[in-house]
Amino acid sequence: MPLVKIDNVELEVPAGTTVLEAAKQANIEIPHYCYHPGLKIVASCRMCLVKIEGMPKLVPSCSTRIMEARPDRKVDGKYDMVVHYQVPEVKEAQESVLEFLLLHHPVDCPECDQAGECFLQDYTYRYGKDHSRFEFHKRVPPRKDLGPNMLLVSTRCILCSRCVRFTDEVTGTGELVVKNRGYRSEIDMFPETSLNNKLSMCTADICPVGALVTKDFLFKPRNWRYKKVRSVCPGCSVGCNMTIEYMEEDNSIYRIKPVYNAEVNQWWMCDDGRLLYHVYKKLKRLEKPLMRRDGELKRVNWRRAYRHLFERFQSFKPEEIAAVGSGYATNEENFMLQKLFRDGLKCANVAIDDRFPSEEDVVYPRFIIKGEKLPNYRGASDMLQPASTFSQLLKEIDAGKIKALYWLDGSPQFVLTEEEIQVLKKLDFLVVQHIAHTPVTEMAHIVFPGASAYEKTGSFTNYQGRVQRIQRALLPPGAAKSDFEIFQEMLDLLDIATYLNLQEVFSEISETRSAYAGLSWEQMGELGANTAVGEEAAVSSSSSS
Ligand code: SF4
Ligand code: SF4
Ligand code: FES
Repeated sequence: MPLVKIDNVELEVPAGTTVLEAAKQANIEIPHYCYHPGLKIVASCRMCLVKIEGMPKLVPSCSTRIMEARPDRKVDGKYDMVVHYQVPEVKEAQESVLEFLLLHHPVDCPECDQAGECFLQDYTYRYGKDHSRFEFHKRVPPRKDLGPNMLLVSTRCILCSRCVRFTDEVTGTGELVVKNRGYRSEIDMFPETSLNNKLSMCTADICPVGALVTKDFLFKPRNWRYKKVRSVCPGCSVGCNMTIEYMEEDNSIYRIKPVYNAEVNQWWMCDDGRLLYHVYKKLKRLEKPLMRRDGELKRVNWRRAYRHLFERFQSFKPEEIAAVGSGYATNEENFMLQKLFRDGLKCANVAIDDRFPSEEDVVYPRFIIKGEKLPNYRGASDMLQPASTFSQLLKEIDAGKIKALYWLDGSPQFVLTEEEIQVLKKLDFLVVQHIAHTPVTEMAHIVFPGASAYEKTGSFTNYQGRVQRIQRALLPPGAAKSDFEIFQEMLDLLDIATYLNLQEVFSEISETRSAYAGLSWEQMGELGANTAVGEEAAVSSSSSS
């Protein structure tokens, strides 16, 4: 491997590594704007210039690759390349580039939504001049409403072209262009078009300044006021990694952003997944356990509801009762549900909820959005090892074979038809564990208020078989509990299992579900791990491509 020296740091890197990436490995931060690891390199901003021994001029580190030098060309007889970064020429070049970028910039940081996380602001403080020599009128290109989710504040644009390359390369939709040349250059769209692809808000993530802003994050509190937690999007079975930015004061989410995971979503996530928290926000949430008494649903304490539930289920024959797990619930919750029914109530009739919104997959050149609009169908199926589906159970309920049902739901959308609701009315006993009031919770005998994906910790398995951790940001409303806690209490009361934490459930999963053998909670880490089936799927898909 080539040996490179960057300032005083020596390191070996694979041939072809760019100087900028090698510097990162050496913990040297070289400022850059147009370079983004997920996009083609254009080397247009000149922010990343460095001095390389043997080269007559400063060169962009983002596009200069380190290669093995011929023995007679090695510097000091051993280095394939020697790079100088902390030198006056580079410092002077950085100051000049920043001065140039700020010529027309309005420096409106106090009202810019990007302030606090803006690379123009940060680099100007770190590498820029402390004054401007520009005494002329600044150019003021217009603000543009680009589409349903995006605004362009053109005055702040530094023309790095990341957004243009994104719509060319990642979505292939090509809505954005650099219009005009030189002094008049600006980002624009072709006439009669709109930035309405399903990843449009990713352009705000990659815009290094406050030029591209999402309509969802306008005039909100500054970014440093939020708590941040890494989790997984519950919007479909891709399982994009994301950061939830929230405030404890009002138990609310303010922004969702993608986080890099090479195996799942790279740097991106779709707009629907990003905005899904608004859908959950609008739900009429269940906040307390309810039990039907004298024909009406009334508040009850948890213990009393559990006891009543056990008594009622035990009054039926095992073949007359059934439980339904859900792809909205975590692996641990589905595992505990089937354990409660199989080990505690001796009921083999455990089904999976197959009634959920589904659409065609949306396939972009470098991103896929799954039509399966629930995050953990594969994991729920692995955990439940279902004997049937909810649709099949409905037929058995209609035929009078199933008389008591426990339905673990969690979906933000209600999808049952009026006909199916009428079938459920035939049950003698119905327990629903859910997050929101629905026509079915209204007719249930017991209702347990559970937690949404933003309010609990656990794991989801995506459509490829990759198991990943989701993490709680918010507290469930009122007296609602995470579904893990609800099952933990019931399993303990029935003396079936005493789980102290999720890790204990996960280790039982890895002992009893072959695809999860050898996996542990810790090993999953932040990036997740492939289940055995997932590895097989990954091997077969890579060999077929
Ligand atoms: S809008 Fe942002 S991402 Fe696009 S060219 Fe301007 S600065 Fe770069
Ligand atoms: S692709 Fe699916 S998992 Fe990813 S952000 Fe969109 S809805 Fe969420
Ligand atoms: S980041 Fe290297 S030239 Fe722009």
